[in-house]
Amino acid sequence: MVSERPKVQFETLTVHFGEHIALKDVTLDLRPNEILGIIGPAGSGKTTLLRALNRTLELTRDARIEGKVQLDGEDVYRAPSLPALRRRIGMVAPLPVGLPMSIYDNVAFAPRMAGVRSKTTLDGLVETCLVQAALWDEVKDRLADLGTKLSGGQQQRLTIARALSHEPEVLCLDEFSIAIDPVTTMRIEEVLKELSRRISILLVTNLVQQARRLAHRTAFLLMGELVEVGPTEGLFGRNPSDSRTFDYVHGMFG
Ligand SMILES: Nc1ncnc2c1ncn2[C@@H]1O[C@H](COP(=O)(O)OP(=O)(O)OP(=O)(O)O)[C@@H](O)[C@H]1O
Ligand SMILES: [Mg+2]
Repeated sequence: MVSERPKVQFETLTVHFGEHIALKDVTLDLRPNEILGIIGPAGSGKTTLLRALNRTLELTRDARIEGKVQLDGEDVYRAPSLPALRRRIGMVAPLPVGLPMSIYDNVAFAPRMAGVRSKTTLDGLVETCLVQAALWDEVKDRLADLGTKLSGGQQQRLTIARALSHEPEVLCLDEFSIAIDPVTTMRIEEVLKELSRRISILLVTNLVQQARRLAHRTAFLLMGELVEVGPTEGLFGRNPSDSRTFDYVHGMFG
């Protein structure tokens, strides 16, 4: 385990938005088959970190990135193909973003874009992804319905199925449970534990207890700085390395 190469490496990553520094000198890695929790109050740079990985920061005109982000030891900013890079990284946004199309097409969209034409293959992929996202049983008889007709929690699971449809190696979730009920949240948490046997997961969450339940290690960001990262149990224990971590995870601020 110790000698295993990290799946993702952020190395002295600094991100500016104009004059504002959103991330300062962050060095952090995500290991294979790990769920890494990212916690921290609003504005601490959690979403920015995910956007640095899938290179959507580049869509923000005044964003400036220094340092390095590597996937499997290769600099993502030198990736020969941006679409190919983005296919390796699944991204689930805080609120479900349904494409205005059927449940089936939402999941089949990315495979079709990648050139899959066979109906049998697509059917299989759609089923697998919906099963993995714990949604299959609820939608298998209505795959032609619009995705937007699903409940909020179902739509969020549909976005997870969609993120899985291009078989990502890294799944990034940005506060996925913000708009869903606790029961659905628990179901998705089970899904994530199962998925981490195969892929690596970056779990950004405002719910510190969610990191505690799920993450193997947790990183605490505060005002763009990585305060500490370590095994989740240690961070939530009596003696994290930094007293600000103790204050945050025990609800003293944030
Ligand atoms: N497109 C942008 N332009 C300018 N500043 C931005 C932009 N996106 C983020 N920021 C700033 O960068 C900092 C980090 O933002 P980020 O969205 O990463 O925080 P966060 O930890 O995800 O917060 P939240 O918990 O509210 O989602 C904030 O101060 C924010 O205002
Ligand atoms: Mg955010």
